[in-house]
This record gives sequence, C-alpha cells and structure tokens, in this order.
Amino acid sequence: MTVRYLTGITPSGIPHLGNYAGAIRPSVRSQTQAGADHFYFLADLHSLIKSQNPQQTQRCTLEIAATWIACGLDPEQVTFYRQSDIPEIPQLTWLLTCVTGKGLLNRAHAYKAAVDKNTEAGAEPDADVTAGLFMYPVLMAADIMLFKAHKVPVGRDQVQHIEMARDMAASFNHIYGAGQTLLVPPEAVVDEQVATLPGLDGRKMSKSYGNTIPLFTPREQLRKLIMGIATDSRAPGQPKDSEGSAIFQLYQAFASGPQTEAMRQAFAQGIAWGEAKQQLFELIDAEIAPMRAQFEALMADPARIEAILQRGAEKARAQASPYLAELKRAVGLWDLRQPLAAAPEAAPRTEAPPQIKQYREADGRFYFKLSNAKGEALLQSQGFDSGRDAGAAVARLKQEGEGALDALAGQLQPFARSDALVQALQTLAAAHAEAKKA
Ligand code: TRP
Repeated sequence: MTVRYLTGITPSGIPHLGNYAGAIRPSVRSQTQAGADHFYFLADLHSLIKSQNPQQTQRCTLEIAATWIACGLDPEQVTFYRQSDIPEIPQLTWLLTCVTGKGLLNRAHAYKAAVDKNTEAGAEPDADVTAGLFMYPVLMAADIMLFKAHKVPVGRDQVQHIEMARDMAASFNHIYGAGQTLLVPPEAVVDEQVATLPGLDGRKMSKSYGNTIPLFTPREQLRKLIMGIATDSRAPGQPKDSEGSAIFQLYQAFASGPQTEAMRQAFAQGIAWGEAKQQLFELIDAEIAPMRAQFEALMADPARIEAILQRGAEKARAQASPYLAELKRAVGLWDLRQPLAAAPEAAPRTEAPPQIKQYREADGRFYFKLSNAKGEALLQSQGFDSGRDAGAAVARLKQEGEGALDALAGQLQPFARSDALVQALQTLAAAHAEAKKA
C-alpha cells in the first residue's frame, strides 16, 4: 500500500536558513521516497486567521510557492496546490464542524492560550478571538482527511491538531459509517531530530529573536550577515572549540562529512574567525545560489507559479471531488431521485480505547496524559524539558503498562492506582503488543 504524506505550508514571509535546513530541505529530499506519495499545499485559508492584509496575503502565497519550487519541490512528482483552490475543503470542514464537540475545540492550545492571555489582562475571555481561530483545527482536519492522508509531518505544537482530527474521524465514522471507515484517521509524524540552526547571536535561529538569515538574501548581504555572527574573542592561531560554536554548527548543516571533519581540525589548529566565516559563507552560498536565481526568476513570472498551482488543484480535485460526493451521500446530502437505503443496523458502540496524548503547555514544557473513553484524565505527567523525554516515558508505559508506574512515578503527577487506571494501562499495553505483531 502506498503511504500518503500530506504537508501544509502556512504562507507567512520568506523563510530563513533555519526553516530551510529544518523543514524545506528534508521535505524536498523525501519526495522521491519509494512506497509513498506526497501532497503539499499552501494553507492560505488558514493564513487569513493571522493576516487581514490582502496584498500581503497574495504576496506571501507567491513567495512561499516560489520558495518551495526553487528549493526543488517537483510539481510533477508530488501534488502541489493551494488550499483555496479546493472548494471541497471548506465543504468537508462544515461536515466535520457538525460532528465536533465545541468542548473539544475549547481545549485547543492556540485558543486556550488566547483566552488565558485575555484573562490575565482582565479582559473578556474571548476578546479579539475570531471564530476562525477557534475553528482552525476543523479546517486543518478537513485538509488532511479530504485526501485520506495517512501521515502528517508536523512540529510538536501541531500534534494536538492531528489528535483532534482523529477524534473527528471517530465521531463521523460512528455516526454515519456504521462501523466502516468513511474518514481515515491520520497520524502525526514528529521528527525529533529536526535540525535547528543557531542564528546571528548564537541563540536558535527564529523570527521571534530577530536573529535570522533570510534564505534568499543577495550574495553580498549573505556575506555581511555571516561576517557579523557573534564569536568569542580568540585571536588567529588560538585553538577554538567547535563544540557550541555557531559558526561550526552552521557549517556542519551544509557540509559533507569530510568537510565537517576538516573544519573541526581547522578549529583545533586555530583558524581565524574571519577565515572560518569566509569558508562558511562560500559553502552556504554554493548551495543556495542556484535556488536564489531560480527564486528570482519565479518571482518575476507569477503566471508560471499560477499555472503550476492550477495544475496541482486539478490533480487534487480529481480525487477530492468524487470522495466528497461519497461523504455527502453518507450524511444524506444527495440526489432526490435516488432514495438512500435505510442505514444498516448501527454497530453497537464499541468503547473507545484509552489514549495517551502528548502536548506542550504555554510554559514550553512537554506533557502527556492518559484518558479513558469518556476523555477523563486518569494519569498526568509532570512537565518534561524535551519532547523526546516525554515520548520515552510514553513508550515505556505502552510497553510495560502498569509495570512501568513505579519506575515513572517521579515523572508523574500524584495519582490513585484505581481499577480504571490499571485496566486502561492493561488495554494500552495489550493494544501496543498487538500493533507490534501486525
Ligand atoms: N497548522 C499548520 C502549521 O501551522 C499548517 C497546516 C494547515 C497544516 N493545515 C494543515 C499542516 C494540514 C499539516 C496538515 O504549521
């Protein structure tokens, strides 16, 4: 079976080198992977939640499309389209809206964060919160499930949205599917090893720190920015630590293995900072220059991008439109000349299995929680510094079930060892063992 991957790209400004190395480059490299097909789309409907400036919305869409194509995304190889060209997406959004509990959406992190901020400021909880922000997870679920995507590569902050899509699929299938899978519940794929690059000041490269190197900045500007990266004051000839050096980390992100080794030695032998920076500049520019030229050519020819997106939309709609028709039929929005057969005997509601969900709180730390079929929390973790640590604890619980409780106790919030908890852990471990066999 072909595994379908679907990636949503939010158009918001020209990406920086960190976005390139951490997201765009790995994603473009995976497009030729055997046994998989890939959908990439520009989430321009989502972008309206943040930007209400029409010129900027259009400009960002052009820039981000040109960026991905310049970086090697091949529209012949993958399906590349713009969300707003697919009218089936907002239609499915409505079908999902009508099976989604409002309470589920109340718990979305982005919405909760907005409410918390208002409450702290003494304002109305929903002050300045649009219904668009509130509905964000439903639109996202429609993006994914309209194309029956199996896997969705996302950052940690988006995992909750994928979990919500799964909840929506379960409700929809239960109500309309009588046990069949009408909607395919997607899975989040979180790359724990995602490369993060240091920025100009040595902290993680990020727009919010204002320390970024724009991906397609002109060659001379790129040189200036790299020459301005903060270093210590060691003089030429003095040995330098490659460990922890922003220059070295950036170099490594663009170099081959042997190049990296050679630079490590040069550091030990006291290469001058100016010389190291010059080599870094040439290395990055060698990779970026052809893409920069391509980007500029594409920006000067919006008609070419528009044509690529139109062709992508056609490809995408060829799948979306018959599928949406099936879904509309399932809910009863159907040709009046074709009476729908009475629903088959609804399958008895099988209790939903207990679930562990991982999430990140506003404090920046990583948590997980085990809930039962009714969504009641049975077990809650303390905050972890990294998603990987939280993931390791979750893996252990799934593996060992109740047996892991004592070892993990220090990482959990106080809990009662109730029958419900023990049973949920047993179910969880059994399901895990079963999945491993399959
Ligand atoms: N919410 C995603 C982000 O902020 C963008 C997005 C929209 C998306 N729809 C999607 C990602 C569907 C994956 C699948 O990064």
